[in-house]
Amino acid sequence: MTKKLILDLDTGVDDALAISYALGSPEVELIGITGTYGNVLLDQGVRNSLAITDLLGHPEVKVYKGLPHSSTTDSFEVLDISAFIHGKNGIGDVDIPDSNREPETESAVDFIIDAVKTYGKDLIYVPTGPMTNIAAALKKAPEIKDEIGKIVLMGGALTVCGNVNAWEEANISQDPDAADYLFRSGAPATMVGLDVTLQTLLTYKETQTWRDLGTKAGAFLADMTDYYIKAYETTSPHLGGCGLHDPLAVGVAVDPTLITALPVNLKVDVEGPTRGRTIGDNTRLNDPVKTMQAAVQVDVPRFLDEFMTRITGLAKNAQ
Ligand code: RIB
Ligand code: CA
Repeated sequence: MTKKLILDLDTGVDDALAISYALGSPEVELIGITGTYGNVLLDQGVRNSLAITDLLGHPEVKVYKGLPHSSTTDSFEVLDISAFIHGKNGIGDVDIPDSNREPETESAVDFIIDAVKTYGKDLIYVPTGPMTNIAAALKKAPEIKDEIGKIVLMGGALTVCGNVNAWEEANISQDPDAADYLFRSGAPATMVGLDVTLQTLLTYKETQTWRDLGTKAGAFLADMTDYYIKAYETTSPHLGGCGLHDPLAVGVAVDPTLITALPVNLKVDVEGPTRGRTIGDNTRLNDPVKTMQAAVQVDVPRFLDEFMTRITGLAKNAQ
């Protein structure tokens, strides 16, 4: 049976590439996108997800509104650095038409719970923003930790430094308490962190392939991603490209053999100066069962090949 996929997105540039990778993957059916905050405000991210799925020829993908801010704050404001990396509109300041669809009336949290009840082990949930929605779903219906197929999250850093500061990765940093709740919940989860996502890089050469397709979808993907590559030239000039964070999480959800993972019971520091750090949980060090996996190696050429094949094929056949 085709696996069912939910993407939980703060729809910026690499989240948009994650949508594209998912829609270009016949092994999975994208049954919904749940919106979160981070690269953009919740409403802007939801708007982007609706518009992008339309442009890519998949208006059947439903979009649900999630929680607008972290579990420990009353509001959320986009950081200047996020706007610099993803553009003010989150998608490289490229203009694409608004969808004439609206987000669903069911909340993202209820949709996640209902999807687990409906699809059970056939459901894969991929959060690529803060873990706020899944933590709320686990609090509301704790049994889903044993019923869900798997969770593949983009976030954290185990063997490398963070990208917010020396120990914090951006998605975890937005809501460390929610991520810690997920990590300690016992749900089967794979952490696809900066350890591997900063090894999978895209350059202008690849985006030109999309532009050369002559489709609106190809032009959008190329222009949006070029904005992101340009930002990386300032923030991380040593890399020589942009990090494919969120699409790698989708890649691993579709094909776990793309990475080598360490079985480890992780936690997130929620107190003290290292708040936001993802690290092994000493109190569960000797538990024989490891409920999480941390990606520590990635087959870069194979992932980049899959990434380009899937997204180029999708963009070629869209508008
Ligand atoms: O640290 C990278 C992550 O932060 C990605 O998910 C990016 O989209 C931002 O949310
Ligand atoms: Ca993201």
